[in-house]
Amino acid sequence: MLDIAFAAAALPTSGTLVLLAIEGEELSPFARQADEATGGAVARAVAASEFKGGKGKSVSIPGPGAGLSRIVVVGLGKRDELTARIVEDAGGSLAAQLSAEPVLAVDAGGLTPELAAAIAMGATLRGYRFDRYRTKEKTEDKPKLAGLTILTDAAAQATSAYAPMRAVADGVFLSRDLITEPPNVLFPAEMADRCQKLSSLGVEVEVFGPKEMIELGFGALMGVSYGSVTEPRMVVMRWNNGGDARPVAFVGKGVTFDTGGISIKPAGGMEDMKWDMAGAGAVVGLMAALAGRKAKVNAIGLVGLVENMPSGSAMRPGDVLTSYSGQTIEVINTDAEGRLVLADVLWYCQQKFDPQFMVNLATLTGAIIVGLGHEHAGLFSNDDSLCEKLTAAGRATGEKLWRMPMSADYDKALKSEIADMKNVGGGRAGGSITAAQFIERFVNGKPWAHLDIAGMAWTSKDAPTIPKGAAAFGVRLLDRLVADNFETE
Ligand code: BES
Ligand code: MN
Ligand code: ZN
Repeated sequence: MLDIAFAAAALPTSGTLVLLAIEGEELSPFARQADEATGGAVARAVAASEFKGGKGKSVSIPGPGAGLSRIVVVGLGKRDELTARIVEDAGGSLAAQLSAEPVLAVDAGGLTPELAAAIAMGATLRGYRFDRYRTKEKTEDKPKLAGLTILTDAAAQATSAYAPMRAVADGVFLSRDLITEPPNVLFPAEMADRCQKLSSLGVEVEVFGPKEMIELGFGALMGVSYGSVTEPRMVVMRWNNGGDARPVAFVGKGVTFDTGGISIKPAGGMEDMKWDMAGAGAVVGLMAALAGRKAKVNAIGLVGLVENMPSGSAMRPGDVLTSYSGQTIEVINTDAEGRLVLADVLWYCQQKFDPQFMVNLATLTGAIIVGLGHEHAGLFSNDDSLCEKLTAAGRATGEKLWRMPMSADYDKALKSEIADMKNVGGGRAGGSITAAQFIERFVNGKPWAHLDIAGMAWTSKDAPTIPKGAAAFGVRLLDRLVADNFETE
């Protein structure tokens, strides 16, 4: 991870210096100092360009003198429109632009300590890289940005503001690693082993195997698992630092590979289904974030881990499964497996822990991508107040949610001729909604929200704070939900 330091403003004598500019304001006193040291190079470059400090705009001055390899002036837009998100994005973009530079110093003179820390957070998040399986990459092709110094007069305060952010970034990185790992490496038992490592942060971890889950009566989750030679797991992670408050609970779909089962998927793009455990990956990253920053909350993370494979022992279309709740399910399509996994884990969660609420995350339906694209995750819920809190956390972190409707009329589509319900609605109409209606039947009326993250889990192009690949969508969102609403004191 990128080395971050906060230090008092003093002109560096090597590397790249980044100056931040606010639209419509004069350059900061520090920037004027840099200008003087370089014989007016900064003022000349700014005057000769269209640069006015607008958000996302920048001027680059190579070889400005004073020992520096480059000065970059980065615009943040207008002061009264400045948010942590904008500053983070600026930090992320400059980490990407300047990845060939050895040392980078950013003048945060005009910013609060929180915003100075947000630059570092943005740069850190963008600096993520998964190169475990690249054995032939030349050193000169690897990104070189190793360290970033944020120059601020409030270095001590910025350092303390950054500490919890760094813990969240660790959670995001853990989540991205899990989601990116190939499916032959990261099967359910391996993922459970990686969850176990959270115990070093003070998280209590309990792992359930097939024997325990069969004994409990997890007929829906086990139905998915029977086609695979790799054993399923359920992992319960508990972070207890909220006194006697009732816990909050997060549940993730962890299908480590989804072939579709007997209702097999087409070959094209099937490799994407390695990230069908992104919901579970987010829950694990979230637990690491909460523990890492010692959040004052009692939080429980549960993940249902299975592989969905076709084989002689796989469940068939037409099978009837008896879920842990006792409700029976006619399997129409074995590719609608995520809801079967969630059904048992959610029922277990509310029975065992009686949480204040449950939020589940799942790459549940292709239909949510048709509806919302890659800008918002679908939010489905039986609780308006929980929805408002989640939506606000989404806006603050940039992990945006859009609420979708639910109702008894949609629920009717799940009626089965032989069992209590079938696992898909009739036809393709409202596919994400009927999936949510299915899940709702397993929350026992408790406050609950379902996030369908199928369109958000994996990005095909770089974003300012997310290099293309696994986004770890949900880690920052739910960390913020907890920080803003559910910590004691
Ligand atoms: N994991 C998929 C959903 C998915 C599709 C995630 C594309 C990311 C990208 C899920 O298990 C699935 O197969 N859903 C089916 C449901 C259908 C059979 C009712 C789908 O969306 O086609
Ligand atoms: Mn599927
Ligand atoms: Zn799936």
